[in-house]
Amino acid sequence: MSENDVIDLLTRRHAEIQDAFTDVQSSTGGDRQRAFDRLRRLLAVHETAEEEVVHPYARRVADDGKATVDARLAEERSAKEILAALDALGPDGPGFMERLHELRAAVTEHARHEEDEEFPRLRAATTPEERRALAAAVRAAEATAPTRPHPGVESGVANLVAGPVASVIDRTKDALRARRA
Ligand SMILES: [Fe+2]
Ligand SMILES: [Fe+2]
Repeated sequence: MSENDVIDLLTRRHAEIQDAFTDVQSSTGGDRQRAFDRLRRLLAVHETAEEEVVHPYARRVADDGKATVDARLAEERSAKEILAALDALGPDGPGFMERLHELRAAVTEHARHEEDEEFPRLRAATTPEERRALAAAVRAAEATAPTRPHPGVESGVANLVAGPVASVIDRTKDALRARRA
């Protein structure tokens, strides 16, 4: 696997997200809060990078791109709604672990749909050079993506506006939270 290829990079992120879920589920107290903060950041950043870079490209070039991408965006939106609810609830809130379980099921199914339906079509429609350029673009998007979920900004156009602004707000919130901890 080469992370210079966008599909390898995204598949690696899916594995990191699975590990982060396991970390939250197997920890308690302050460790669980830290593990959840990491999961929340990984998920929010990953989906934003896909929404800003990968989905718009796949929609344009892949076979059946529009239908494939629209279905993924709907899944991302519902996962982000659960993630935002969990973020508001906090790891000590009532029903947190049940909702986390629900989120993991949704995120796992979503990642499988990307790996089985979207990525093979994207691979078939792109050259290795294009996939290398897409990997670089994903890394750049990851560096500026909001660290909290913002359901409702799934369309590529909205994200270009909302992404950087929401990103600054999220980073400020993170810094304040870290200072309080
Ligand atoms: Fe996704
Ligand atoms: Fe993904």
